[in-house]
Amino acid sequence: MRTAQIDIHLTDADADAALRADVLAGLTASPKHLPPKWFYDARGSELFEQITELPEYYPTRTERALLERSVDEIAARSGADMIVELGSGSSAKTRLLLDAFTRAGSLRSYVPQDVSEPALQLAMDALGAEYPTLDLHGVVGDFTRHLDRLPGSGRRMVAFLGGTIGNLLPAERAAFLTELRAVLAPGEQLLLGTGLVTDPAVLVPAYDDAAGVTAEFNRNVLRVLNRELGADFDVDAFAHRALWDAENAWIEMRLVASRPMTVTVAELGLAVGFAAGEEMCTETSAKFHLDGVRAELAAAGFGVAQVWTDPQERFALTLATAEG
Ligand code: AVJ
Repeated sequence: MRTAQIDIHLTDADADAALRADVLAGLTASPKHLPPKWFYDARGSELFEQITELPEYYPTRTERALLERSVDEIAARSGADMIVELGSGSSAKTRLLLDAFTRAGSLRSYVPQDVSEPALQLAMDALGAEYPTLDLHGVVGDFTRHLDRLPGSGRRMVAFLGGTIGNLLPAERAAFLTELRAVLAPGEQLLLGTGLVTDPAVLVPAYDDAAGVTAEFNRNVLRVLNRELGADFDVDAFAHRALWDAENAWIEMRLVASRPMTVTVAELGLAVGFAAGEEMCTETSAKFHLDGVRAELAAAGFGVAQVWTDPQERFALTLATAEG
């Protein structure tokens, strides 16, 4: 008998409180910054889907091709009976995993985790029809806060794909990996997708495409603040900038004020000044060296079982095991 349920650990009120705290902290800091998680309202998620189709944005198609080639090996190595997918969205990669682990004969349940309940519900309805024998257990939550509430089996593989771990700063990554290790039993696994350090002439256009989709995606965070917090950002007065920070090994996306402005955020009772040319960081997207991935995993108590990379070494999938 299959079962389907959704646990809700993150309500609209929680998300609203987190948005207010992030915006207050970020707009009163120097330099100003906003966390990337607030890009993803309905329009932002649609723009991200468009980004994944752009000729310049190689990560999604590179990871998908890599997963297609290696997924049967991953399933054989893993033997997990439960796949937990962090930030599952509406991913096509999910089907590759579910199909391979079903072929391998081990899979019993799939646990998608996402911040958006509507997105999760939609994905689960579709998966329920496609995989009638699979137990589905959705979790609405924030992967940096609610890892301890994941359902457990003792033979889980947690999939964290897309290179999204790169959106966490190094200290946040360490905290995330340590917390994840703490909630897993020895022998349970992590399948981690990471973008690798590659030629800046490839990296930068991936975050600054000719069609301007990434620019729209970047500016969308201002629309979110206008709608959710009664802010009055003149969205068109901010230009998109992407740069490669070689020292930190991350792409940084910024919004650049094209003229001096005072922006009010009504719901926070806040007025903030922008100087002409002032830059606000909206995302860091870290890229990794393979030995760095291994070292960060080891520091958190994971041992690497196997690593798969694409022929151009732009992306890696790492299967790691929680050590006893
Ligand atoms: C959500 C991590 C896959 O950092 O590459 C795409 C988001 N930002 N273009 C990334 C993003 C700008 C993306 N991930």
